[in-house]
Amino acid sequence: MKVGVLTSGGDSPGMNAAIRAVVRVGIYNGLEIVGILGGLQGILDRRFKEMDARSVANIIHRGGTILTTGRSREFRTEEGQKKAALILSDEGIDALIAIGGNGTMHALTKLQQFWSGHVIGLPGTIDNDVYGTDYSIGFDTAVNNAIDAVDKMRDTAQSFDRIFLVEVMGRESGSIALHVGIACGAEAILVPETPTDLRYIADRIVKGRRRGKGFVFIVVAEGDEAGNAVAISKKMSELVGENCRVSVLGYIQRGGNPTRQDRILATRLGAHAIRCVLDGKTGIMVGEIDGRLVETALEDTFTKVKEIDHRLLALLEPLSI
Ligand code: F6P
Repeated sequence: MKVGVLTSGGDSPGMNAAIRAVVRVGIYNGLEIVGILGGLQGILDRRFKEMDARSVANIIHRGGTILTTGRSREFRTEEGQKKAALILSDEGIDALIAIGGNGTMHALTKLQQFWSGHVIGLPGTIDNDVYGTDYSIGFDTAVNNAIDAVDKMRDTAQSFDRIFLVEVMGRESGSIALHVGIACGAEAILVPETPTDLRYIADRIVKGRRRGKGFVFIVVAEGDEAGNAVAISKKMSELVGENCRVSVLGYIQRGGNPTRQDRILATRLGAHAIRCVLDGKTGIMVGEIDGRLVETALEDTFTKVKEIDHRLLALLEPLSI
């Protein structure tokens, strides 16, 4: 049996650990593994690469993806999906394991309409916005990267008693912002999942200052409906009557060595994806919920909403008095 593996969409730390697990556990179980370079577009461009056990040596600790990734426009068309199905069959591939976010899971369901091979998804995105898993591969590392950065900014914030707005990634999800905000003792966390009331936040900051509070951190998810951190800082500066500094963390969040949590999550999910292929399963994404491996219909992973942890968010108010 021949199994293709690819990474698609934004890279996330731990993708390499997942590739390694797929390749090694696959070969251990007598499967042939083919790496597909450049994401889903790599199928259309026939960028296939035989993987042996040594091809994934010394990658478990590396961020990014050795298979490289991409966001394919051609694959979004029915023509592209049919072409991909033909190429996969022509290459003799029996199953495809794709590591990526919502867009990737959606693309897999499209491919299934034209291809009879087995299709398994693994959640790999720093955004943690895929339904069917508590955490996606890369989220923990991204959060820790952002925490490191905010911890460094605290020195200036504390020395000057400044108000800092820190923008973190998360196009449609506030998961990174929520975890960074709580872990860094933020005064406010702005996420797209809840309405943002800038006047209320400004009022709390002013009152806090009167009670003797010094520096202030506001963590903003890039996808917040009130705007990005730069736009919000202008309004906030006016409302509180002092200059708010902005720091957009950007791509440093997505890079670097994956944490223990991401390496182990990726390894467990990769190994289980092979188990699913061996068991003849298809049309599912493998995730982890409450420490247990779970399989979710691909369709559900992008049609059902992955909620942020509202109980965690509710802690913000009492913690930031
Ligand atoms: O989906 C992951 C993510 O890092 C988002 O948080 C961010 O908005 C987006 O990717 C950035 O995409 P690109 O890598 O294409 O700039």
